Order: sequence, then structure tokens, then C-alpha cells
Amino acid sequence: MYTETLNHKLSDPEFLLKKEWVIRQIQFKLRLIDLELSAQHKRTMIQKIEHRIKDAESIARKLMKKGYKITFENAYQKLNDIIGVRVVCLYRDDLYNIADLLKQQKDFTLIKEKDYIKNPKKSGYQSLHLIFDVPLTYKDTVEQQRVEIQIRTVAMDFWAGVDNQICYKKNPAKMKTAERALKNYSTEISRMDKQMLELRRNAER
Ligand code: GTP
Ligand code: MG
Repeated sequence: MYTETLNHKLSDPEFLLKKEWVIRQIQFKLRLIDLELSAQHKRTMIQKIEHRIKDAESIARKLMKKGYKITFENAYQKLNDIIGVRVVCLYRDDLYNIADLLKQQKDFTLIKEKDYIKNPKKSGYQSLHLIFDVPLTYKDTVEQQRVEIQIRTVAMDFWAGVDNQICYKKNPAKMKTAERALKNYSTEISRMDKQMLELRRNAER
């Protein structure tokens, strides 16, 4: 499906090492953020951090879907999520606090923010997406590395995990029933998130 050259360039040791460095940078920042917020609120803030580097096949699929030629240059220029990091926390207010601290990082440039919690996707998908450029310096050059950070609650993560296995990017007609059910569950997840937040706030009084 993808070209040999794209595959070759994506498995280049220098390319991979750079991506790994960016993931470490973000993990480091997130650990500092977790320490700060956990101390401030006297409870554990971040439940889980995951990361992945998009493989050649999904890069090719996404470029095709977006109508671009499958080249390394296009992968670099047109895709925001070759590096993806996911942060999961318990409550929806925490998620915005984590996002605010990420946005305060002087070395990160915010490229785009997509709030699928205030405006869920048609599928019912909810999460906050932040797209950053992170500078990687080597000798006298600075190379911006693009990364997508998804921040969500455990409940949103549960929903997305099930949707991912059952519906997302699978389109046959028989998906319709599952899609409809998931859309309804998304509303329930949202209600549950609000109730859990309310519960915590009452307990804090
Ligand atoms: P793709 O959806 O990956 O083609 O990227 P995009 O450029 O359209 O950006 P978007 O913000 O829509 O989605 C980025 C990422 O969010 C995806 O790669 C998924 O990880 C996640 N995502 C978006 N929509 C859904 C959805 O309906 N279900 C699930 N499970 N995940 C979603
Ligand atoms: Mg999409």
C-alpha cells in the first residue's frame, strides 16, 4: 500500500531517535505538570500517559484519505499526528488544567486546539486535542517537531477504546446500529463525567 521509500525513511534510525526524544520531552513535562497539580489539589492527577509513533501504513492511508501523494515530505508537512501522546485523568476540570499548563510551556508552540468535549464529533467522540511544535536542537539547527496530544477522562478513554475496536475507520453498513448505540453512550459518558465531577466537588466542601 505504501511506497518502499516512505517505509525506508520512516524506519531511519535518525528519524526514530528524534521522535523518541520528542516523546521523552513531553513525558518529562507531563510528569512535572502532574507533580505540580497533584501537590496543589492533593490527589493524583494523571492516571495514564500513552504514546505512539504512527506507522508507515497508517501514514499512507491518512495521506490518501486527505488526497495527498504518499511521500515522506507530505507525511512531514501535512500530518500533525505522526507523534501522538495521550493523557488520561479522572475529571474533566483536571483535563483543562493539564492543557493550560502544557500551553504555558515557553518552548512549545501551540499550532491548533480542538475541543471535542465542548463540540463532540459526529460519532460522539470526546477529547481535547492540542497540536504543538516542539523544538529539537542539534548543533546550530532547530527542527520543529509536530505532535498531537490528546487529553481525556477515563470515561472518554473507555468510550474511544470501544469505538476504536468496533466502529472508527470501519465503515460497512452493519456498523450503523453500533454507531447509533455509541453515540447514545457518548451522551451517557458525558453525563457520568459531570456527575463524577459534582461528586468530587461535594466531597471537597
Ligand atoms: P484522523 O481522524 O485520524 O483522520 O485525523 P484528523 O486530522 O481528522 O483529526 P481528528 O482530530 O479528527 O482526529 C485525530 C485523532 O483523534 C484520531 O487519530 C483518533 O485518535 C482520534 N479520533 C478522532 N475521531 C475519533 C472517533 O470518532 N473515534 C475514536 N475512537 N477516535 C477518534
Ligand atoms: Mg478525523
